[in-house]
Amino acid sequence: PTSSVCVLDAKDAAPSAPCGHTLDSIPGPTNWPVFGSLIQLLFKGGLKRQHEALVDYHKKFGKIFRMKLGSFESVHIGAPCLLESLYRKEGNYPQRLEIKPWKAYRDLRDEAYGLLILEGKDWQRMRSAFQQKLMKPTEVMKLDGKINEVLADFVKRIEVVRNNGKIKDLDYELNKWSFETICFVLYDKRFGLLQEHVNEEATNFIAAIKTMMSTFGAMMVTPVELHKSLNTKTWQDHTAAWDRIFSTAKVYIDKKLNKQGSEKEEDFLCDIYHHSHLTKKEMYAATTELQIGGVETTANSMLWAIFNLSRSPCAQGKLLQEIRSVVPAGQVPTAEHIRNMPYLKACLKESMRLTPSIPFTSRTLDKETMLGDYTLPKGTVLVINSQALGANEEYFDNGKQFLPERWLQEKSSINPFAHVPFGIGKRMCIGRRLAELQLQLALCWLVQDYEIVATDMEPVEAVHFGTLVPSRELPVAFKRR
Ligand code: HEM
Repeated sequence: PTSSVCVLDAKDAAPSAPCGHTLDSIPGPTNWPVFGSLIQLLFKGGLKRQHEALVDYHKKFGKIFRMKLGSFESVHIGAPCLLESLYRKEGNYPQRLEIKPWKAYRDLRDEAYGLLILEGKDWQRMRSAFQQKLMKPTEVMKLDGKINEVLADFVKRIEVVRNNGKIKDLDYELNKWSFETICFVLYDKRFGLLQEHVNEEATNFIAAIKTMMSTFGAMMVTPVELHKSLNTKTWQDHTAAWDRIFSTAKVYIDKKLNKQGSEKEEDFLCDIYHHSHLTKKEMYAATTELQIGGVETTANSMLWAIFNLSRSPCAQGKLLQEIRSVVPAGQVPTAEHIRNMPYLKACLKESMRLTPSIPFTSRTLDKETMLGDYTLPKGTVLVINSQALGANEEYFDNGKQFLPERWLQEKSSINPFAHVPFGIGKRMCIGRRLAELQLQLALCWLVQDYEIVATDMEPVEAVHFGTLVPSRELPVAFKRR
């Protein structure tokens, strides 16, 4: 089944193209009454191991397969040709799977929706308001000063918490770093998360985001209306967490937007607010969701990059050489330096291929669409599996190895649709460039000062908790160079 699927796709454009096979004929794991394939998935390690199960299903059923979990049905695509086909047929307002619990909260409190949950023209309007500032390379480059200010504190913090080279709870330290950075960019405010004594407001804010994230999963698989009408603990915790997130974010957004100073200093939020037709309520929702989208994903990508470099001293050596040749001794790396650092970019790409933070994203088809051999009806939920693509030997030779060089070959045979850790098309991650710059600069700072070493060579597996996280505390240490 693996090779035939895309052949018919070329005929899509031909007026005489035959109608494809129906949704029902897509292969997939046994669909039992009521449970669908849920029980098999549980046997394969449960939701925590779902990414591995999905890779197995792609191996077994090919580039496209269909799966039902309870009453939720999805079609999984894990081939560059299918992604490209989807991308070419994309309408103006692509949709992801609805996050109903978030919408339920906003409706309850009469708050607006942000980019993660908006749809249609309203999504496009908000997207274009933020697009320029976040996706234009020259705009994002201007943020290197703020990113570096936080990184200087982060490196100091590492010195303080390093114990025999090891850092207890590296994941938490990285989350504080990415949180501090995104807040500084958005609100122009330092929360002081990298100080010895963190203020209560900041820890409450982080705790609220954690609670919100850990309570919405359950309401994605059981009806949120039920939770709401029964006022379950999950619903109460979820609502209370959003209340805290919104009330804190609003204070800082208001401070920014109300302070329209006479001096024409550039400011991220003010510029967007004054150059768009977004209401204050929309600014609250958009900004809050940017923050939610940007913290754990970036921290987690950094964690995996540290791990992958610790297991590849050779790649780390080359990276150090590149850093030393581009950034003069004693200088702070800048966005301008990064432009001349292809190996650094390749290291990050390779790390995100092997261990992407977000293993898959989704699309809900807004019209009947032909993909490969199949005609999929409007409303079909597609799962775009970037992790399965990155792990597929068909697209990446020696795919289990960390080989940044693969991205630097002159005649690279890598299909761009085989590497999609930030998603694809009009709805791809809007924070991509900011995240990349943050990660690139952070790696420069770290590798300049420290040799990142592996403290054991036992396997570290990736488990799925919304993001892909390491199965145990990372066996890494930071040795001062
Ligand atoms: C969407 C990954 C950092 C804000 C997404 C999507 C992915 C993703 C896979 C879904 C895209 C799609 O459906 O095609 C990541 C990763 C990051 C990262 C791996 C870090 C390495 C950030 C940052 C921000 C952010 C720093 C905020 C500045 C968003 C938003 C969306 C999104 C708002 C929804 C965009 C829309 O629907 O228009 N991200 N992201 N992300 N991300 Fe990120």
